[in-house]
Amino acid sequence: MLNIRRPRRNRKSEAVRAMVEETKVTTDDLIFPLFLIDGKNKKVEVASMPGIFRLSSDLMLKEVEECLRLGIRAFDIFPAVEDQFKDVHATKSYDSNFFYLKTLKEIKQRFPEACIITDVAMDPYSSDGHDGLVKDGKIVNDETLEILGKMALAQAETGIDILGPSDMMDGRVGYLRQVLDQNGFTEVSIMSYTAKYASGFYNPFRDALDSAPKFGDKKTYQMNPANRTEALIEAELDTAEGADFLMVKPALAYLDIIRLLKDNSNLPIAAYNVSGEYSMIKAAAQKGWLDGERVMKESLLSIKRAGADVILTYFAKEFAALNKT
Ligand code: PBG
Repeated sequence: MLNIRRPRRNRKSEAVRAMVEETKVTTDDLIFPLFLIDGKNKKVEVASMPGIFRLSSDLMLKEVEECLRLGIRAFDIFPAVEDQFKDVHATKSYDSNFFYLKTLKEIKQRFPEACIITDVAMDPYSSDGHDGLVKDGKIVNDETLEILGKMALAQAETGIDILGPSDMMDGRVGYLRQVLDQNGFTEVSIMSYTAKYASGFYNPFRDALDSAPKFGDKKTYQMNPANRTEALIEAELDTAEGADFLMVKPALAYLDIIRLLKDNSNLPIAAYNVSGEYSMIKAAAQKGWLDGERVMKESLLSIKRAGADVILTYFAKEFAALNKT
């Protein structure tokens, strides 16, 4: 008989494996990102994201209702804006008659129990396709903050629960916190896109919103994928400025960053399992090259194991349906 340690004993049956399982993903961990379009009875599949649709407000309400029944309670809603409504200053982003803000209000009125997260950035409404204001070919930081402040206030007025600043301007968390507090919205949280990288994994999302930058790239505001320590600076600032959650984005290629922030912060860590990460799995599954369901579960598990408390994922509905008890 060999005298060796035998870790395999703890893998010998389903029952034993379940007992020693260290990480579990539940539907409560997930936030479902949804794409809203103007109009009625419209449902358009995003070509690069099979199974994900742009929905008009009537169908969005139905979708939220269906997801709530599946146990999903948190939703991140993004607007896809037609070109004719875009301008340099993203004016539609704080027009309370515009379809995005009107629908947010409707959702909160119909489903007050749902946690609604909004997107704070200029790109869906900007004719330049950038997250900030463009002047002489540059993205200007401090003038952008004023626009983000108006946008955030208009969103808070609809009754939403959490603001999601995804723009990466300096000082925006503190600025938004101040605007919220001064206007009596002390209850509205901020889930900051803290370590958001200039990533190639966002392309399907930009298809969904038709929001690709009209010139250049986002490298002067989003982080360099080569950098790790810099994520700690962003985390330090967002924490000091009053963020309630810190987010890492994308997730799968940045698991080390998720762990880094988890180990260095007491705030809940969110990870955004972005569009390209979804599309890769879907495409490979469609070709029969991967077992889509299996790698979806493995991916979400890995993100949680890395340290994410909350996961934004386009797989949320599929996962919830599979796990519905
Ligand atoms: C932009 C924004 C992006 C995403 C969320 N908000 C894309 C970008 O920075 O160009 C990407 C989400 C995804 O890929 O799923 N404010």
